[in-house]
Amino acid sequence: MCGIVAAAAQRDVAPLLIVGLKALEYRGYDSSGLAVLDQGAIQRVRAQGKVREMEARYLANPFPGGTGIAHTRWATHGVPSEANAHPHVAGRVALVHNGIIENHASLRAELKARGQAFTSETDTEVMAALINECTNQGMSLREAVLATVRELEGAYAIAVISRDEPGHVVGARRGAPLLVGLGIGENFLGSDAQALIQVTNRMLHLDEDDVVEITRDSVQVYGLDGQPVERAVYESELSTDAVERGEYRHYMQKEIFEQPRAVADTLESRIGPHGVLPNIFGIDSDTLLERTRGLHIIACGTSYHAGMVAKYWIEEYARLPVSVEVASEYRYREAVVPPDTLFLAISQSGETADTLAALRESRRRGYLGTLAICNVAESSLVREADLKLMTRAGPEIGVASTKAFTTQLAGLGLLALELARRNGLDAGRYASLCAELQHLPRAIENALQLEPAIIELAGEFIHHQHALFLGRGAHYPVALEGSLKLKEISYIHAEAYPAGELKHGPLALVDENMPVVAVAPNGPLLDKLKSNLQEVRARGGRLIVFADGAAGMDDMADHGAMLRVESGGSFISPAVFTVPLQLLAYHVAVLRGTDVDQPRNLAKSVTVE
Ligand code: M6R
Repeated sequence: MCGIVAAAAQRDVAPLLIVGLKALEYRGYDSSGLAVLDQGAIQRVRAQGKVREMEARYLANPFPGGTGIAHTRWATHGVPSEANAHPHVAGRVALVHNGIIENHASLRAELKARGQAFTSETDTEVMAALINECTNQGMSLREAVLATVRELEGAYAIAVISRDEPGHVVGARRGAPLLVGLGIGENFLGSDAQALIQVTNRMLHLDEDDVVEITRDSVQVYGLDGQPVERAVYESELSTDAVERGEYRHYMQKEIFEQPRAVADTLESRIGPHGVLPNIFGIDSDTLLERTRGLHIIACGTSYHAGMVAKYWIEEYARLPVSVEVASEYRYREAVVPPDTLFLAISQSGETADTLAALRESRRRGYLGTLAICNVAESSLVREADLKLMTRAGPEIGVASTKAFTTQLAGLGLLALELARRNGLDAGRYASLCAELQHLPRAIENALQLEPAIIELAGEFIHHQHALFLGRGAHYPVALEGSLKLKEISYIHAEAYPAGELKHGPLALVDENMPVVAVAPNGPLLDKLKSNLQEVRARGGRLIVFADGAAGMDDMADHGAMLRVESGGSFISPAVFTVPLQLLAYHVAVLRGTDVDQPRNLAKSVTVE
């Protein structure tokens, strides 16, 4: 989950590489660096911290050169430091790497035995040393990369230059993304389209185990056997505006406010006056969905919370059994698969290593088929699943996921309705649920109006070190999502519980110093939730209640605060109640002065295990 960008051009590439790296900072931001070939020498600059730290060093001592590689890092092997920052140089070779080499320790030992010295603790330096050794034996850079990657176990996307081959960059990928950007008289490599969109919209995807060699005017892809292979060129639909922050203070705030549009886009041409439109999950979806007798959902983080909400929806409306599991657990468990079960993977990026590995593992286990709900059309997840539904959130840059979640819920709402229709949901109920889903963008718009009240509330939170979030039913995952947002960007320790669990242990934590956030929409479980909140009141806990005006809730506020959310109906309510919790986390983080878009220790796209 680092970011890579590389270029072979006639013009000086360091400034272009820095622009590309800034677009990739969401993938990691603890150190960065770049290396350029300049008259037969490798010029390198690296710095701990954000790309701007490295940029400042470069600008203080700039160097020319039309062939270069660059990297922004999220530390896996070795602390964030200048010495561990990429590019790593070994002899005539410089290399950047995203991923983890699992057999690096044995390779390092072998290299040391042959006299190789190392300057960093990274697994990456081992690759640079191996490639350099191969070039010492007379191999070209491409041959050396091919020979080296055949020795590697684990995941990698790499870009390599050699001072003996000016004008050439060699890249390779396995289990981590890498794209080629096709310019006019210049070509590029990048971890994603965002890194390249400032220079070109013509792109080419590399498949697993591909090796690519680019020069200013050529691009050639090879398979692991060294034979040339063809890969399709496409035009990216990403616009440069989509990756700008505009008038907003942070990407996260922009993305929270983009939700009405993003959800409307996700629903567009997929649901109409008569319900969910045919084949929105792909042309083969009819047969598979007709045979589906249950679902197993896997995902990570926020996407996992979306899957948890979907379980409530699908079980209630379609009466099909649904299990939900975090991908990192699923992949190592000997799961028993009931007949005719559909495997559903949910991911914003489509490159999350655990989610991808779980999808691949599912093939071995005999599911009816696989479905991906994802935000990145060119991602590995989308390319590998049988059926797919793209959320149309646009690029999500803030590390804390916001619009990805609500658009996933929009997509999962469509799936729940489609399965419900096929499994005999009453026509009147189906029609009213469809109308509710179509109202979701408007309902989110209304929820966003709560921002001024939430800013006030946020002020009370900033001195607390802990918070509890409570919800029931489909709003329990919403409580989980609210607590994840708060801990992720404000660094306040937050836990979420189904409210009925409070008395089984967490109640011991409640006193006047413990804010308790309750997600309390009207519905059959509200009275139960009220009793749980009374338990908090009786212990002096401070309640912050998000409710939709049901009777008997107002007196809960005498020990705290009450914010009124218009739920828009019990089906879409989990998506709507998420919005004030996102705003709360955002404004608490702003007041605490944390790095909202790039919180410490995290990265947007977790492409390592
Ligand atoms: O790209 P994915 O949806 O697969 O990512 C999954 C998680 O890494 C992600 O949701 C993470 O939990 C977010 N930082 C949450 O805000």
